[in-house]
Amino acid sequence: MKILILGGGGREHALAWAINQNPKCTSLLCAPGNAGIAGIAECVALDIEDGETVAKFAKEQAVDFVVIGPEAPLATGVADALRGENILCFGPTADAAQLEASKSFTKEICAACNAPTASYAFFTELEPARAYIHEHGAPIVIKADGLAAGKGVTVAMDEAQALAALDDIFSGAGGAVVIEEFMEGEEASFFVLSDGKTALPIGTAQDHKRAFDKDEGPNTGGMGAYSPAPVMTEAVTQKAMDEIIQPTLDEMSRRGTPFQGVLFAGFMIKNGQPRLVEYNVRFGDPEIQAIAMRLGGQILDLLLASAEGTLDQAKVNWADDHALTIVMAAKGYPGSYAKGETIAGLEERSPQVKVFHAGTAIVDGEVVSNGGRVLAITARGETLKDAHDRAYARLKRIDWPGGFTRSDIGWRAL
Ligand code: AMP
Ligand code: GLY
Repeated sequence: MKILILGGGGREHALAWAINQNPKCTSLLCAPGNAGIAGIAECVALDIEDGETVAKFAKEQAVDFVVIGPEAPLATGVADALRGENILCFGPTADAAQLEASKSFTKEICAACNAPTASYAFFTELEPARAYIHEHGAPIVIKADGLAAGKGVTVAMDEAQALAALDDIFSGAGGAVVIEEFMEGEEASFFVLSDGKTALPIGTAQDHKRAFDKDEGPNTGGMGAYSPAPVMTEAVTQKAMDEIIQPTLDEMSRRGTPFQGVLFAGFMIKNGQPRLVEYNVRFGDPEIQAIAMRLGGQILDLLLASAEGTLDQAKVNWADDHALTIVMAAKGYPGSYAKGETIAGLEERSPQVKVFHAGTAIVDGEVVSNGGRVLAITARGETLKDAHDRAYARLKRIDWPGGFTRSDIGWRAL
């Protein structure tokens, strides 16, 4: 099969690495890719948010299967455009991608199917939103409605912070906000494939969203992750499937917008009860780096089953192991940072360790930094501690003075 992956981050390198191991994959393309992906796939420049452009390219190249990595092309309807041309693809339609693109849509779905989540109110005007905050007090959570690359959420510990976040959202033209009850508990990520009829869980993980050790500093896209998530016990997982995931998928089908792709649920778990924090409609980054390390080449079979509607016949072959990934980011991230710095020490050393590239490029034959999150050093092991120690040992051999990491990935579970 000739396969095209859309995206160029650590998530897409992990997917490319896993897919490339499956003998069904005979040719691999990636748009735009990065320096790591370039080692295993042909990287091409393409406007990946334009469905017509992607469909035309896929047809010209006789691509058999397109895997859509990031949320932006899903929200703009690239999956719709591909299916419209009868090109097999992994990823939900724009209508189904609303589960990530719109916080208020997700809240509406939860209400319709009784899925446990934070209580909320939705506003398109500043004054009633301010009044709601005065009435409910802090802590309270303010979410800009729409895709915000993980930056549209303020967990406000006092009212002043909540009101400032509101002002920010309503500072331009328009503005829409979801204001939520603050939920306490432990967070976990859950990944479930769906083909519109059957749901198949394919892994759990926990990530670290704050930039610095001890969960300090600004929110980021994720500074590290590990899989599995101990808090997702069998009982919690079953509850999550029965009370949240399956009802959501059923409600999407009932509305005539069945969900095909990966549903990535973020939960807050307290006393064995999961409640939904948010949905994403793509794999988590860096969660998938850890999960891909554990699943390997079977990922392609699972993605194909989701796209082809045969998940009822698919199954996941789990190795009873653990994986952990450490993100190495450019100093300054998630604020401003330098690009174009040379990175050395990237050569392969062990099959149990993989340095996935996130924001890298090749300039004059050298790998250079080219983004905020730059590398994802990932290792597997029999125990989480083994995976942790292997990943941190590998990190030491990377030569990039402009990079930083957290030193406590996995602390909660170790
Ligand atoms: P989101 O972009 O929706 O994932 O939100 C980013 C982060 O904000 C989440 O990972 C949580 O840590 C936190 N968060 C979001 N909603 C809530 C909530 N209702 N209660 C507590 N924390 C929340
Ligand atoms: N690591 C969280 C995300 O991918 O949204």
